[in-house]
Amino acid sequence: MTKKYNRTLVTSALPYANGPVHIGHLAGVYIPADIYVRYLRLKGEEVIHIGGSDEHGVPITIRAKKEGVTPQDVVDKYHAIIKKSFADFGIAFDIYSRTSSEIHKETASDFFLKLYNKGEFEEKTSEQYYDEEARMFLADRYIMGECPHCGNPNAYGDQCESCGTSLSPTDLKNPRSTISGSTPVMRETKHWYLPLDKHESWLRRWILEDHKEWKPNVYGQCKSWLDMGLQPRAVSRDLDWGVPVPLPDAQGKVLYVWFDAPIGYISNTIELLPDSWEKWWKSEDTKLVHFIGKDNIVFHCIVFPAMLKAEGSFILPENVPANEFLNLEGDKISTSRNWAVWLHEYLEDFPGQQDILRYVLTANAPETKDNDFTWKDFQARNNNELVAILGNFINRALVLTQKYFDNKVPQANELTDYDKETLEEFADVKTVVESYLNTFRFRDAQKEAMNLARIGNKYLADTEPWKVAKADMARVETILNIALQITANLAIAFEPFLPFSVKKIRQFINMENLTWDQLGRIDLLPVGHQLNASELLFSKIEDETIEKQVQKLLDTKKANEATEVKVVPQKANIAFDDFAKLDLRVGTVLECIKMPKADKLLQFLIDDGMSKRTIISGIAAWYKPEDLVGKQVCFVANLEPRKLKGVESQGMLLSVEDTDGTLSLIQPPKNVTPGSQIG
Ligand code: MF3
Ligand code: ZN
Repeated sequence: MTKKYNRTLVTSALPYANGPVHIGHLAGVYIPADIYVRYLRLKGEEVIHIGGSDEHGVPITIRAKKEGVTPQDVVDKYHAIIKKSFADFGIAFDIYSRTSSEIHKETASDFFLKLYNKGEFEEKTSEQYYDEEARMFLADRYIMGECPHCGNPNAYGDQCESCGTSLSPTDLKNPRSTISGSTPVMRETKHWYLPLDKHESWLRRWILEDHKEWKPNVYGQCKSWLDMGLQPRAVSRDLDWGVPVPLPDAQGKVLYVWFDAPIGYISNTIELLPDSWEKWWKSEDTKLVHFIGKDNIVFHCIVFPAMLKAEGSFILPENVPANEFLNLEGDKISTSRNWAVWLHEYLEDFPGQQDILRYVLTANAPETKDNDFTWKDFQARNNNELVAILGNFINRALVLTQKYFDNKVPQANELTDYDKETLEEFADVKTVVESYLNTFRFRDAQKEAMNLARIGNKYLADTEPWKVAKADMARVETILNIALQITANLAIAFEPFLPFSVKKIRQFINMENLTWDQLGRIDLLPVGHQLNASELLFSKIEDETIEKQVQKLLDTKKANEATEVKVVPQKANIAFDDFAKLDLRVGTVLECIKMPKADKLLQFLIDDGMSKRTIISGIAAWYKPEDLVGKQVCFVANLEPRKLKGVESQGMLLSVEDTDGTLSLIQPPKNVTPGSQIG
């Protein structure tokens, strides 16, 4: 379906205001949205970009309790930090507001009431855990107990973090309230449900038939949700933080955060355009596009559209270009484990270098699958691409123009075949970049822009105007005219990706008002046009700088390992008789050698008090054989002998495995007679 649209409404997922934002947020949602919006603006299209903080939900109340402050304090703090980070990185929102605003409360309540009055909800009573001491119903995260799968005594009502299983609160053994510590009881509570099952058939048609062009990861996830069959979803919760349910019999109940948050897109539009917002949300010639991460797909492709449809007067999204996740140095980004590159910290270490991060995150954007950010790659892309290609080319073009032509654009004289080939090579850059941008393929689009710089860089390297200058100034004029026209093209093609650098380039070439439609033209800079002074756009990042960042992450990892005690669950009880069967003794090491062709194994000869015995042990990674001679060790004496690498091992050394996997031999604290028994 190709519809005719006259304006584009772009939304970016509202991040939870319970922590700062990191590179995963930027790569997944905000940079792609910003590229898209900048591109449309550069084309002169009518577009707005709506953002804001998601300030409700249980995690925020938990954070507040932990820090001994109010939920409002928490969101005030993080909303300010997040808003600043986005502004610092040039994410050009038309509004960045918040869901704790008055206008949002009003908009979300009205939306609920409209659906309520139309009979779009089902009312159901169910039993939920209630804390009689704190006099409140308990959100899943406020209940802890024993995991039925792994026995972890501190599993949450929604998930066991030890074994990763998703749970519901009634799965937990010995549940307890984290608010008061008391044992919760079951109590009846009433909630309002959006009957998604009743929306299933139109959703199937709308997504699976009418929107086959959605990204495969998005389409696929929707299909699997739809194929599993949709269930009614509660749109209210028993909680004291959120938008109150606007009904007389609903004390202590608020709208579920996933009901109110997407309405935040609407409230923020109303706040921005109180008189004309409806044209953006209610007219068929507006194209609505939601930028989100993959964990938000079901809410934006199924739940929110069902809400909008139930309301009746709103348009539905035309596309939801969700990204997968970005990992950091091979591990999942995690706020609680501090495994992230925080945007505000990046700017402390790399002041003024937003574009490098923007470039790298787009080059590695998790568009079709999860992707990895590494500092090595960050360095390589900066040094080999931004510095060596883009920066080098533009700098040469500008410096040579300054040197030979007093910073005025020279004329193009007779073109050689090579000149013509070069110009032809980028004649279609506009069509190509556009087709990528229109289909949300931002990596490819940026690659194509960089390809233009590559063409320019190669052109100067091949034509060597600094050499030609000795003999043929007319030729140099032509070469630099072409190089400057390519530079002006770069100042268009890169604007959506590298807005900070492009601002500088436009300043250097004294052309502030280039538009997208001019991309691909070779007459952008008129002959005689005066250029301004220039400076280097990018500079090399040294190994040292990168090593510092890597070290910072290694320190985080170490700190996490120290606190994250991964104690293996206890085994089933055994009878005393079973224990008594073990013959554990102390012996003295007479000889110890590394076993040939076995990295992990050491071969011991042990004085066991009666004779000498050979024992093989897999602890070579932790000990030097020569350090062990003369030391005492503990061993299982009556273990059935077995052959390892052709040598019979007559027993097993006892060692302890630390939670990080390190092995240490068990040794008696003072020397004893070899053959002494342990018990
Ligand atoms: N706060 C949610 C998250 O970070 C996203 C909300 S998007 C919106 O996963 F639809 F609610 F706005
Ligand atoms: Zn578990």
